[in-house]
Amino acid sequence: MQGKKLIVLTKSSSETQKLAEMLALFLKTGDTISLTGDLGAGKTCFTQGLARGLGIDRKITSPTFTLIKEYMSTSSLPFYHFDVYRLKSLQEMLDIGYEEYFFGNGITVIEWGDRVAPLLPDDFLEIRFKRLLKENVREIDIIPHGERWKETAEKWLKKSQKDLRTGKSTSET
Ligand SMILES: Nc1ncnc2c1ncn2[C@@H]1O[C@H](COP(=O)(O)OP(=O)(O)O)[C@@H](O)[C@H]1O
Ligand SMILES: [Mg+2]
Repeated sequence: MQGKKLIVLTKSSSETQKLAEMLALFLKTGDTISLTGDLGAGKTCFTQGLARGLGIDRKITSPTFTLIKEYMSTSSLPFYHFDVYRLKSLQEMLDIGYEEYFFGNGITVIEWGDRVAPLLPDDFLEIRFKRLLKENVREIDIIPHGERWKETAEKWLKKSQKDLRTGKSTSET
């Protein structure tokens, strides 16, 4: 079940990171987030903000040669960062035991999540990044899937719109 699409524009990478940082406030164990969009669209940038919001200080880079990197948040919630850009077949996901991550107790973010669409749980948050003509502007489409995200996605955006406008950052509060 796909919910109503929500659209946000960000004007810089730090705005995208702040938006992601706010999403971290709403995350719960077992959540899955699929990020899609071309190379350079902002998926890793968003993931960095999310990690910061979860209290992870380590620098997040895309797990290009490993499919997945694992981090521990301050609340001891595991954070799984997948990048499946180089995935050759879904079998590779089965081989690494993706279920342990997607259906486990941590928070999972998947760059290029559309490439593993058949494996995604019923409840997940889909976020599509698009470059616009203006260099540092991105259109970010947020599509809730399943009960879990129906209202949470809107709550997240409401909070972000309020706080981004006032320039408030979650790390300062
Ligand atoms: N509004 C914006 N949101 C996200 N990234 C932006 C934005 N404006 C410029 N950028 C830049 O675009 C690039 C996005 O790269 P990255 O996040 O690695 O993309 P992806 O993971 O989708 O391939 C970064 O160099 C970032 O600084
Ligand atoms: Mg990336």
